[in-house]
Amino acid sequence: MNLETIIFENNTLKIIDQAKLPDQFIYIQLNSLDEVVRAIKKLNVRGAPAIGITAAYGLYLYARQLQSKGTLDLAHFKEGALSLKNTRPTAVNLGWAIHSMLKQFQDNMEKETEALLERLKQTARQIHRQDKETCLAIGKNGSGLMKDGFRILTHCNAGALATGGSGTALSVIYTATRQGKRLHVFVDETRPVGQGVRLTYWELHANDIAATLITDSMAAWLMKEKKINAVIVGADRIVNNGDIANKIGTYGLAILAQYHKIPFYVAAPLSSFDLSIDKGERIPIEMRDENEVLDFWPIKDKTKYKVLNPAFDVTPGSLISAIITEKGVIHQPVTAKKITQFFKN
Ligand code: MRU
Repeated sequence: MNLETIIFENNTLKIIDQAKLPDQFIYIQLNSLDEVVRAIKKLNVRGAPAIGITAAYGLYLYARQLQSKGTLDLAHFKEGALSLKNTRPTAVNLGWAIHSMLKQFQDNMEKETEALLERLKQTARQIHRQDKETCLAIGKNGSGLMKDGFRILTHCNAGALATGGSGTALSVIYTATRQGKRLHVFVDETRPVGQGVRLTYWELHANDIAATLITDSMAAWLMKEKKINAVIVGADRIVNNGDIANKIGTYGLAILAQYHKIPFYVAAPLSSFDLSIDKGERIPIEMRDENEVLDFWPIKDKTKYKVLNPAFDVTPGSLISAIITEKGVIHQPVTAKKITQFFKN
């Protein structure tokens, strides 16, 4: 199934409403910066690359809004960029896409308005197009790590729904399957929001990939029972020493994988690297509304509860067997030296 998570046609931005999956598969149209900001905050669109692409289109729409009000200038454009950047602080692709759009604005603001708008539109399209190619390359580069008959555990959703293409971690699975390998994917439910149960399971099913749903707490036992051959996840940010931020629960899986001597793979585009940060402790972790944790349960009086809801955690590079990118694979030991060298080559 060729899933288009984000569609931009005739100056109209549409996204699959991921808050409605799996019960309803519908596209919603986003017409303004405010609507884009809301959709990103509310997880109608989510996954690091997908929010970067949506934000880029959102800034183009915003530039047109400013033009129609006669206020298309750098100061106003920067204001919009900032409101987008603050939506989800952990995924670095968002900042990366916003930065690319801001740069285009600055480089072209002396031009005629129509030329500036056209430049912004083409930049957003380019970010989107590039992500499609990146996903395919990640799939190709990682597929060799997946052997015929492997049972693979994944967490959250790092598939087509999280990107502008075929995904990162799931692209590796799709490519290996196309090569004729028989894989079975165990899908972590991914509490509290359920990206695994609602999105990954649905996406794998739509692509005819054999899958089994488990709750997050079942992973340890499955590993002990030798039911898992590899773990593969995406990343929201990878820093200089190879530490990665990904959906809450990823760190625990990495520790479990090491204990059980199971390879732990991370698949992510180069746009998810943030070399300005030296180590994982410095990655900003998004804290989300406590209702995401509580609303799941039929509890009438929620006032007694004090809840913590970090959306991401940090996995040290030392627990990672390999980072799979569009440029190639960084094998363990994942270190600052190796990552610096990888970017130099
Ligand atoms: O809160 P989410 O659903 O945006 O979290 C997404 C993840 O943690 C993904 O694993 C990550 O963004 C990589 S997506 C290719």
